[in-house]
Amino acid sequence: MDRKNVSRIARKYNVYSGKLLGVLEDIQKEERYLSEETLKNVADVLDVPLTRVYSVATFYSFFNLVPVGKHIITVCMGTACHVKGAYRILEVLQDLLGVRPGETTKDGKFMPTTHDKKFTVSTARCFGACSMTPVVMIDGKIYGYVNAKNIPLILKEYGWGEKNEN
Ligand code: FES
Repeated sequence: MDRKNVSRIARKYNVYSGKLLGVLEDIQKEERYLSEETLKNVADVLDVPLTRVYSVATFYSFFNLVPVGKHIITVCMGTACHVKGAYRILEVLQDLLGVRPGETTKDGKFMPTTHDKKFTVSTARCFGACSMTPVVMIDGKIYGYVNAKNIPLILKEYGWGEKNEN
């Protein structure tokens, strides 16, 4: 995002407290991720050190530092989900969506995106829904008791399997 648009968003925040976080959240809502250029422009416009902008952007797992697909699938790899087969869920998703295992972002996150840019697969640690393990979140919606059989049904809710899809 360029400086002009970063300034447009920053003007919405009158108080210093929480301004940086709010600006980054708003930018991500518009662009779906935070590019290096964006982070530099945020530092310039808000007059805060770039290191502070990076530390906030990398501290919160919901910020994306690479372009993402239309739908973000996040597989919980927390202990309870791990015990109930989270790795198997991840394998099935990789197979169905055709994303390669081991693709990681610069900050070490596992976030491969399908070629049609429709799905990005990510991992996280515990959504606080351990009573429904294994758990997957898609665009913020939690799915519990996920297994190899119901994954295709869940993906179909997001257009998977339709013409020109993976
Ligand atoms: S460990 Fe997966 S929801 Fe808690």
